[in-house]
Amino acid sequence: MPVGRIRADPADGTIRRETLKLQRSQDPMSTTESNGALLSLRGISKRFGPVQALSDVTLDIPSGQVTALCGDNGAGKSVTIKTIAGLWQADGGEMLWEGRAIRHNGPREAEALGIKTIYQDLALCDNLDIVQNMFLGHERLEHRLLDEDAMETAARQTLKELRVTTVRSIRLPVSSLSGGQRQSVAVAKAVMANAKLVIMDEPTAALGVTQTRMVLDLIKRLAAGGVAVMLVSHNLNDIFEVADRLAIMYLGRLVVQGPAAQFTPQTTVEYMTTGTSRQMAGTA
Ligand SMILES: Nc1ncnc2c1ncn2[C@@H]1O[C@H](COP(=O)(O)OP(=O)(O)OP(=O)(O)O)[C@@H](O)[C@H]1O
Ligand SMILES: [Mg+2]
Repeated sequence: MPVGRIRADPADGTIRRETLKLQRSQDPMSTTESNGALLSLRGISKRFGPVQALSDVTLDIPSGQVTALCGDNGAGKSVTIKTIAGLWQADGGEMLWEGRAIRHNGPREAEALGIKTIYQDLALCDNLDIVQNMFLGHERLEHRLLDEDAMETAARQTLKELRVTTVRSIRLPVSSLSGGQRQSVAVAKAVMANAKLVIMDEPTAALGVTQTRMVLDLIKRLAAGGVAVMLVSHNLNDIFEVADRLAIMYLGRLVVQGPAAQFTPQTTVEYMTTGTSRQMAGTA
């Protein structure tokens, strides 16, 4: 089964996927009902005690596109991404990864597939510098010692390829970075880990205009290189600027999904606040 490795193209900074051939064992659960999407959720449900957080969520996440997951507070966005990321186990339904049914037990298994989630707090360590953060848990060793030179070179190269140019030194502790720079380091870390799906939860929520611009450009570049990007956002400007597809949740249900061109800010708000749209002719 072909799997990809993400590499930034030094010529134009575009991130591309190199296709590798890996052997996977035949799985009797294999299925092709994923519409060619990298990840598909089929009828996913999740309950917390009396709260039905997710009901019958069906969602496709294709490679090379930005899918914006929208919805009002409490709609189920975070529970959906945490289920994809392996933090929660769904109570029902199935997940298909490259057309094959998967069930991951914990975030490590999700990461091993190539699913990288960047949460709002980013999970970076403030007291560590950029290089240490980018290699945390994946340190490179030489003769059982940390290979600082190799890690520094790879970190510098990845940031350069992502056109992250505002960081003065990669040996700066992350605590001294701006919000946009921190997001960039988190994205660079995902790229270095060869993520195939990068999920970002409200990546621009705390950012100013310039930093937002930088993060949105980075999101577009990731998708242009073949990575599936899932963006959770409340910001309609961000959504309509970068999203190729929209998926809208309402009270734990995925009420509509389709190409961004089929939505307007008005219909999006209508779906987010009522679960339906009178203006939109036919669903996507
Ligand atoms: N750990 C939990 N225990 C109990 N209920 C939970 C838990 N996590 C989420 N929920 C409930 O599940 C529902 C969906 O929550 P979720 O966090 O996914 O919303 P959201 O769409 O991310 O909202 P927001 O935009 O406010 O972040 C809510 O009713 C919430 O109270
Ligand atoms: Mg949330």
